[in-house]
Amino acid sequence: MDHFIYRDGRLHAENVPVAEIAAAVGTPFYVYSTATLLRHFTLFDDALDWGPHLVCYAMKAASNQAILKTLAQAGAGMDVVSGGEYARARAAGVPGERIVFSGVGKTHEEIRAALIGGIRQFNVESEPEMRAISEVATALGVVAPITIRVNPDVDAKTHAKIATGKSENKFGIPIAKARAVYAEAAALSGLKVIGIDVHIGSQLTQLEPFRQAYQKVAELTEQLRADGHQITRLDLGGGLGIPYTRSNEAPPLPSDYGDLIRETVGHLGCEIEIEPGRLIVGNAGILVSQVIYVKQGEGRDFLILDAAMNDLIRPAMYDAHHEIVPVVEPDAGVDLAPFDIVGPVCETGDTFAKGRLMPPTAEGDLLAFRGAGAYGAVMSSEYNTRPLVPEVLVKGDQFAVIRARPTFDEIINRDTIPQWL
Ligand code: LLP
Repeated sequence: MDHFIYRDGRLHAENVPVAEIAAAVGTPFYVYSTATLLRHFTLFDDALDWGPHLVCYAMKAASNQAILKTLAQAGAGMDVVSGGEYARARAAGVPGERIVFSGVGKTHEEIRAALIGGIRQFNVESEPEMRAISEVATALGVVAPITIRVNPDVDAKTHAKIATGKSENKFGIPIAKARAVYAEAAALSGLKVIGIDVHIGSQLTQLEPFRQAYQKVAELTEQLRADGHQITRLDLGGGLGIPYTRSNEAPPLPSDYGDLIRETVGHLGCEIEIEPGRLIVGNAGILVSQVIYVKQGEGRDFLILDAAMNDLIRPAMYDAHHEIVPVVEPDAGVDLAPFDIVGPVCETGDTFAKGRLMPPTAEGDLLAFRGAGAYGAVMSSEYNTRPLVPEVLVKGDQFAVIRARPTFDEIINRDTIPQWL
């Protein structure tokens, strides 16, 4: 459920007409709903309320300071994957003890910054990284809390580019090697082993792969405890999918997911962490764009928008489907016609949808891409020197620009000219 609905025939973001934001900000832009963000965070938080837990928002999905602050004030922790994300989380007021650090390539500098600034735990992805964390911690005279990310070799049944839990993926250590790696970790003086981490992929639409992975984690917990390790925390990753189409079979609810966690690992008495990104922010954001031209092509018609692949890369990158709806509600029963919906970038891949059935659409009309809040603005670029797409946050009947569109001068002046030119 989200808070982008038609009221009096006009699409609203909570209580604000989307067209009003477009008039103030210009298109294209992203707009997020505070109520939807909070609702989704609370669904996860409630789903785990049977035991000690922390919902660490995977901020890679959308990392604007205003979004982070909104979630942090509701009690969220953060899952970060770079020094930049760590700095963003701290700047948004998230204390170190609510930040977990994931990612396969943490540098010495990133590890150092997190140890100095405070960190809940590092999710270690390899033996060399484990040794590096121990070295950096020892040099600072501190002990780094860690979990080790295990790769359970489970098929997440999602798009290959976002599946992470198969043995051929670069993530984690093979679960079969886990006992040996934990033994080495326990012997390193800069580390304190506290738990196990697993994350098998993103946009999962079934619970079964989670069940397989979490059962393996439960078995491993018991083995590691028998080996003498104190396993008190399980980080179970993110990945629960969202409905991108109305016809889609609805993915499982956070409450079902919470029940599954309880069933598979609840008996172990561990503190549970999860790292959802997409489900918290995906349907809490839309991308609003204007039709520049309606072009009649050879055997197909095009809607040429002022948003492009640089603003929303998901269709080009993962063949992702986003619902595209007019900001002015079409009359019921109106005839639909197929359009290829494209952006102005000079690549054929700059196509949002092919043969999409749309109501009558004219130049100047506003269209909204639903489900664009996650992996939308964060994956945008200035390709074709198109200014980075702005972001807006709505709360009730108020809205605020939370990232402004840069001017051409700001873009150009970021470059510097060597003295020989
Ligand atoms: N934890 C870890 C270690 C991750 O790698 C990810 C996502 C998450 C949590 C959050 O997963 P979520 O709950 O959002 O599914 N750009 C792609 C998605 C990439 C996901 C990367 N890792 C897309 O647009 O579909």
